[in-house]
Amino acid sequence: MSSAEFLEGLFGLNGQVAVVIGGAGALGLCLSRGLGKAGAKIVVADMGAEACQAAVDKLTADGIEAVYATVNVTDKDSLRALCAEALKLTGKVDILVNCAGINVGNSFVDVDPDVWDKIMSVNLKGTMMSCQVFIESMLQTGGGSILNIGSVNSDRPLSRVFAYAASKAGVVNLTRNIAQEFATKNIRVNAICPGFFPAEQNRKLLDEKRVENIMNGTPMRRYGDPNELVGTAILLLSQNAGSYITGATFYVDGGFTCSWF
Ligand SMILES: NC(=O)c1ccc[n+]([C@@H]2O[C@H](COP(=O)([O-])OP(=O)(O)OC[C@H]3O[C@@H](n4cnc5c(N)ncnc54)[C@H](O)[C@@H]3O)[C@@H](O)[C@H]2O)c1
Repeated sequence: MSSAEFLEGLFGLNGQVAVVIGGAGALGLCLSRGLGKAGAKIVVADMGAEACQAAVDKLTADGIEAVYATVNVTDKDSLRALCAEALKLTGKVDILVNCAGINVGNSFVDVDPDVWDKIMSVNLKGTMMSCQVFIESMLQTGGGSILNIGSVNSDRPLSRVFAYAASKAGVVNLTRNIAQEFATKNIRVNAICPGFFPAEQNRKLLDEKRVENIMNGTPMRRYGDPNELVGTAILLLSQNAGSYITGATFYVDGGFTCSWF
């Protein structure tokens, strides 16, 4: 067996279908490209048709088989429609990546309860409902693998992002809970917790002082490149390399969560 065949057998996703929710975003598109390059057919799922189509165009230009369906993760019917559409377009769903997310920064006394609810609704409830809907389908098709996206905030709550941090702590807790529930049903559920990656979502929150603090707290002293998430995602999602991994939380953060000073 050649080393290429060995690696393909361990990590390859050929013949699998991956639904990537938040797939038009910075990290979601990069993960879609990575899973596509590993052989998966990609269903990009995000809010707007235009953004989804642009993501599909980029993936297709890279030689990846990709289609899209719009979704709003705060609406369970919308998630049900996404699952039905994905099944119609591709026949099955083997992989689900929950990569939608929003964030707003405030001092604690200024946290608006409605904004709190909105962040919780997208980041935590959206992840929960998406898992519900796709697990129902995976149970019927013999199993699958789910990747949720937490944050370094899942472990260490950062200042000014109270709802976001609580939602991401919830994502990790939920991931473990669902993982144990479906461990004997051939459905694995894991989480990646990224450190700091350039994206529109956090650009708005990062002033000079905050960037300095983050860099000082990141042993590697740099932002991550979204491509640096891909290998971990493939490991967790692959049926062979990841076959005994469920309920795990992988921090891909340049050492942020191992540093105390
Ligand atoms: N960029 C980082 O440094 C970083 C770090 C840790 C965790 N994360 C997490 O990674 C994920 C992706 O973030 P990103 O940096 O790519 O941000 P992004 O803003 O580029 O992508 C987020 C995507 O989620 C989609 N989305 C928002 N609300 C939605 C809804 N209701 N229904 C469906 N889709 C919705 C957006 O349209 C967008 O395409 C998020 O969960 C984020 O919290 C990002």
